[in-house]
Amino acid sequence: MTDPAAAPRVPDHPVDRLFVERWSPRAFADEEIPRGELSVLFEAARWAPSSMNAQPWRFVYARRGTPAFARFVDLLNPRNQEWAVRSAALVAVVSRNLLDLPGKDAPVPSPTHSFDAGAAWAHLALQAHLRGWATHGMAGFDRERAQRELEVPSDHTIEAFVAIGRTGDPSVLPEWARAREVPSGRRPVAELVCEGSFRF
Ligand SMILES: Cc1cc2nc3c(=O)[nH]c(=O)nc-3n(C[C@H](O)[C@H](O)[C@H](O)COP(=O)(O)O)c2cc1C
Repeated sequence: MTDPAAAPRVPDHPVDRLFVERWSPRAFADEEIPRGELSVLFEAARWAPSSMNAQPWRFVYARRGTPAFARFVDLLNPRNQEWAVRSAALVAVVSRNLLDLPGKDAPVPSPTHSFDAGAAWAHLALQAHLRGWATHGMAGFDRERAQRELEVPSDHTIEAFVAIGRTGDPSVLPEWARAREVPSGRRPVAELVCEGSFRF
């Protein structure tokens, strides 16, 4: 659902405004993000819940204006590059696919590493919003090249990239992106939830 007129950001139930006010713009302002601000966002991610408290999330980042930033941009799909190049920082959200179990000599495959990393990214995004920073997740990137060029070992998965910055003026965007620069709606809760068994 992307048409805000058809699905305005009005919650069905009285959630904190944080949840409906966070959204993912593509237009970023020139402002840089200090390392200390990024640390606050990673701190929020750190406190996410995870299966067995394994904390499988890892973050690799580059700030705009550093040599690493161009490398990160280059790993994104061309469409994402068009707007993410103006973000203040790009973060690769990585998770460890293996789990250390008490009493086992070798780690076992983790069934929840992506789920856990998703929780951490959500913490990061919500904390960013609370401090006036916008975030935009991206699954559109070259997975093989990113794994190699960011030196991510094979027992880890790059789940997504995240662009972070202050929201900017949509006029900086290419036409296709400008038209989409509005918060999207959501399916009603009634379409997502049922009691007892899966009846959709
Ligand atoms: C894991 C993930 C991957 C995404 N990949 C992309 C992407 O590659 N390019 C893009 O423009 N937006 C991407 N998005 C943004 C989603 O389209 C956006 O979050 C969704 O439409 C809901 O909008 P909102 O975040 O503004 O509420 C991604 C979001 C997530 C969470």
